[in-house]
Amino acid sequence: GTLDGTMKANGGRYFGTCSDSGLLSQSSESNLIKAEFGQLTPENSMKWDTVEASQGNFDFQGADVLVDFAQQNGKIVRGHTLVWHSQLPQWVSNINSATTLTSVIQNHISQLVGRYKGKIYAWDVVNEVLDDSGNMRSDVFYNLLGENFIDIAFAAAKAADPDALLCINDYNLDGPGAKIDSLIALVGRLKSRGVPIDCIGSQSHLILGQVGNVASALRRLANTGLKVMITELDIRIPKPVSQSQLNQQQQDYQTVVSACTALSPCIGVTVWGVSDKDSWVDSTFPSYDDPLLWDGNFNKKPAYYGALAGA
Ligand code: G3I
Repeated sequence: GTLDGTMKANGGRYFGTCSDSGLLSQSSESNLIKAEFGQLTPENSMKWDTVEASQGNFDFQGADVLVDFAQQNGKIVRGHTLVWHSQLPQWVSNINSATTLTSVIQNHISQLVGRYKGKIYAWDVVNEVLDDSGNMRSDVFYNLLGENFIDIAFAAAKAADPDALLCINDYNLDGPGAKIDSLIALVGRLKSRGVPIDCIGSQSHLILGQVGNVASALRRLANTGLKVMITELDIRIPKPVSQSQLNQQQQDYQTVVSACTALSPCIGVTVWGVSDKDSWVDSTFPSYDDPLLWDGNFNKKPAYYGALAGA
């Protein structure tokens, strides 16, 4: 079986990856995606600095390529992401009035979500709103609007596409600590205010050998009553990479994927890329390597068989 086919057969879940137009134009990548994956996330093409680099001027070229590819090949799409402090154009960061920022958020979301209405399975409405200590991140959104920017964003997304699942997405939710505690508390406040939130995305950018708490953490997230999904999975290996580490990575992938498949509120797993040669890890963590399921020549790694065994 394939990754997605096995996930579907064993519980109706999806197995996805991120991509974008540059990679999709290469047949080595697109053929693998067609065969193995059931879900796509735009790696960069729906981010604010791409879609609305200057105020009111929308560019959907890259996003259209990804959504069209998905539609033509029967893949569902997770929209990523509506409100995020990173890849945010300067003109937004420079806003200094709460009223202006509110209408800017509402317009951005109604244009972007509205364009793909009915074509997006789930949206990451807000991304990484907590900092590493579990406090609300200090960015233009929080500084001008307080926590209410989250309510504003979810209301705008709901209005633009009532049928899409609406998620909060974050990293470092893979084990005990202040961050997962804060996220669960935040979700509780959002639900009590009637914010239309459906799901929690756990990015799951992991390190080899450090996956033992993932299942219990995911269970805690699911205990909020929301759906959960693993949204950006990769497991990076400290250099130099040995065969025994690649075998450990197989184990680790099985552990993480089965943490989702063992949990009925967990509806799918997305890995953050196809081939090791295209991962964000190379530039961000130069002392780590090889975090994905296919090597730089598109050969299946042991990790692939770990993910398949967990699916
Ligand atoms: O498109 C420009 C290009 O015009 C320019 O010449 C080049 C020079 O640096 O940069 C290109 O943009 C890069 C962009 O990826 C597209 O390739 C950015 O520099 C680079 O910073 C950007 O990195 C992305 C990163 O998010 C940005 O924060 C990664 O591809 C992407 O994988 C990564 O994904 C994030 C998720 O969205 C959220 N969670 C964490 C995850 C990993 O950082």
